[in-house]
Amino acid sequence: MTAKIGIDRHQMRYHPKQEVERLRQYGSIFWSNLNQRWLIVEQKLALDVLRDDKFHLPPYSNSVGSLEKITGEDLGQLQALSMFIPFLHNGIYHKSIREVLTKILVEIQPRYYQLLPEVVDDLIHDLLKNGSGDFAEEFSYRLHMATLSKVIGMPASSVEIINPMLTSENLNYNNSVSEFVNTELRLRVAFAEMKKLVNENEDIRAFHERVGRYLVDADLEDTFNNRIFAMMAVMIIGRDTIAGAISLSLHEAFEQFGDRIDGDQLASLDTKARELLRLTSPVNIIEREASEPRKVGDQAIAAGERVLVVIRAVNTDPAVYGCPHQLTEASKENDGFVFGSGIHTCIGRNLALEALRVSFQKISQLRAIHRFGEVTMGTGRNTQSVDRMTMKVEI
Ligand code: HEM
Repeated sequence: MTAKIGIDRHQMRYHPKQEVERLRQYGSIFWSNLNQRWLIVEQKLALDVLRDDKFHLPPYSNSVGSLEKITGEDLGQLQALSMFIPFLHNGIYHKSIREVLTKILVEIQPRYYQLLPEVVDDLIHDLLKNGSGDFAEEFSYRLHMATLSKVIGMPASSVEIINPMLTSENLNYNNSVSEFVNTELRLRVAFAEMKKLVNENEDIRAFHERVGRYLVDADLEDTFNNRIFAMMAVMIIGRDTIAGAISLSLHEAFEQFGDRIDGDQLASLDTKARELLRLTSPVNIIEREASEPRKVGDQAIAAGERVLVVIRAVNTDPAVYGCPHQLTEASKENDGFVFGSGIHTCIGRNLALEALRVSFQKISQLRAIHRFGEVTMGTGRNTQSVDRMTMKVEI
């Protein structure tokens, strides 16, 4: 029997360093019969693919349409929302959608940056008040949504409803029908809540109207629903990645420095956050499909074949950073592909980096942080995170 070559999701979740080293043994680019795609683990080859416009992002929203036909399920909400999520929909509207979402982010950013320090202080204060707490759940997971909802004036009670879980366990990198159906049901509830808020809440209605202008400017149809979908896209997209970025980076700090971090080591976390983020890379893979026959390194790729850039592997490529998985000076110039590269580069990069920076700055000013108990690693559709990490903070 042929060995199953490919990403073992369980290993990637619990033993990512070993899993990345295992994948490297197969070469810089190799065919995965498990994932039915070419896997890339070398940074130079990843760059060649992401900068090549003959490699495009596969249009997942088409898969939603096909799934509707095959299963007879109504996935209308998911299909409509996925049009506003650039990595799910790579059609002719990509540039316009990117423009609208960027404008929303630009509008949000100044106030978000202003509010971040006090939100971080409040979350640390809650951990202190209770003696100890789950950093993943009570800090990293809450931070982005707490700040975002304050910026747009959303009542706390609506935050979780608007932001339904888009993640699910036991997924592979192919589309899973039950995942789509579950997401559809959650989205219907979220959409209804958002509609209610627009009708009842003055701040949100004003925001909704401004989004209408952004749609018109980008030559997209300005409908009541499209405004809501654009707003929901911005609220949903960054949540798991920001939470993953903060909790994985702190988890990695504990891995490198031990279960109790204090003194100079704690103070130094302030400047190490970006490096820890590179080492842990919360988004797992970037996928592309060849529209014409291509060559990546020495490997011929046929038209229609897909490649997966394994982000954590290219971000710890020994050819670029020397010793993989260790903190180095190298990433001051090159922090890898944490946020992708090329025309789909993450538009939330600055916002996410600011959330990470402020969190680590505040944490590095404490007297000590102490991790204890078992850590549970988490995973989403294409993200890694920490589900549970109990921590005590001392001031
Ligand atoms: C640390 C947190 C984050 C990480 C690690 C991350 C990572 C990424 C990566 C790797 C891509 C490229 C996907 C590809 O090329 O196929 C991407 C795209 C994207 N990200 Fe992020 N992201 C983060 C936070 C955010 C936030 C906060 C937002 C918005 C609120 C956001 C919005 C987007 C959007 C809209 C795209 C698609 C861009 C396009 O296709 O043109 N991200 N992100």
